[in-house]
Amino acid sequence: MATYVVTGVSKGIGYEFLRQLSADPSSTVVGIVRDKPTTVKKVSEDPDLKGRSNIHILEADVTNYDALKKAAADTAKITGGSIDYLIANAGYVSQFDGFDPIGVLGEKPKELERVLKELFDTNVVGNVHLYNLFMPLVLKGQTKKVIVISSGMADPDLTTNFDLEAGSLYAISKAGMNMVTAKFSAQYKKDGVLFLSICPGMVDVGHYNNVTPEQTVGLGKTMQKFAEYAPHFKGPATPESSVKDVRSVWEKASIENGDGGAYLSHFGNKQWI
Ligand SMILES: NC(=O)c1ccc[n+]([C@@H]2O[C@H](COP(=O)([O-])OP(=O)(O)OC[C@H]3O[C@@H](n4cnc5c(N)ncnc54)[C@H](OP(=O)(O)O)[C@@H]3O)[C@@H](O)[C@H]2O)c1
Repeated sequence: MATYVVTGVSKGIGYEFLRQLSADPSSTVVGIVRDKPTTVKKVSEDPDLKGRSNIHILEADVTNYDALKKAAADTAKITGGSIDYLIANAGYVSQFDGFDPIGVLGEKPKELERVLKELFDTNVVGNVHLYNLFMPLVLKGQTKKVIVISSGMADPDLTTNFDLEAGSLYAISKAGMNMVTAKFSAQYKKDGVLFLSICPGMVDVGHYNNVTPEQTVGLGKTMQKFAEYAPHFKGPATPESSVKDVRSVWEKASIENGDGGAYLSHFGNKQWI
C-alpha cells in the first residue's frame, strides 16, 4: 500500500504510471493534468481503469505556481497529509530541436529562444515548485521517494562520444533538472528523502508519428548514432515495459546504497538504451 502523486498522466508514459500504480486497490494515486475533464473522461471510458476509486485526478499546469499549490493542498485532503512517492513525469518534449543541430536552430533565433524558455519553465522551474510545494507531504510519508522522468539525452558523455546533435534544447532542460535532483538530495538526504532522475529509455508514445520527409533525415541520423552506441537496440519500448523498468529502478534504489541524487537509466545504470 502506497500513496503516489504523478504529474502528466493525461497520456503517454504518465497514463501508464496511472494504470500500473492504481492496479493495487490499496494504493492511492493522485494524477495531475492540465485538462481534468478530458482525463477524467478517458479514465472513465478505459475498461482497465473505470471504477478504480483509488484514482484521483487534479488539475494544474506545472508552470502555474498557484495551481500547483492548490493541487498540493487538495492532495493533502485526499491522502490525509502525506504521500510516499512524488513522480515528476510531466514534460515538454519539443519538436523544434528534435531533428537539427543547435547551429541550424540558430538560424531561427526567436523560435530558439521561445522554445528554450518554455522548456526551462516546464521541465525545470515547474518541477522545482512542484518539489517545494509537495515536500511537506513527502516528509510526512513512509517511503519518501521523489523521482523525475529524465532522459539519456541529458548525458554529456553520450552527447560528446557519439556527436549526438539533435534534441539540444530539450537535453539542456533535462540536464538542468538532473542538477535540481542533486541539489534537493543535498538538502533532504538527511531527512531520509531519496531523489532520483530516471530515464525511461526510448518509448513509443507517438512523438514521431507525423514527421516531415526533412525531419525523417534528421531522425535517421540520430537512430544511426543510437545503433552505434547500443548495437543491441531494436527500437522504442512500449510504455508498459518502460514503466515496469522505471518502477523497478526506484524500488531497488536507496539512500543507504548511495543512490541519493543519482541520474540512472531504466536499467538502473548509465546504459541509456
Ligand atoms: N517517450 C520517450 O521516449 C521519453 C524518453 C525520455 C524521457 N521522456 C520523458 O518522459 C516524460 C513523459 O513524456 P511522454 O514520452 O509520455 O510524452 P507525452 O506523451 O508528450 O506526455 C507528456 C505529458 O506531460 C504533460 N505536460 C506537458 N507540459 C505540461 C505542463 N506545462 N503542465 C502539466 N503537464 C504538462 C502532458 O500533458 P498534456 O496532455 O496537457 O499535453 C502529458 O501528460 C517526459 O518528462 C519526457 O521528457 C520520454
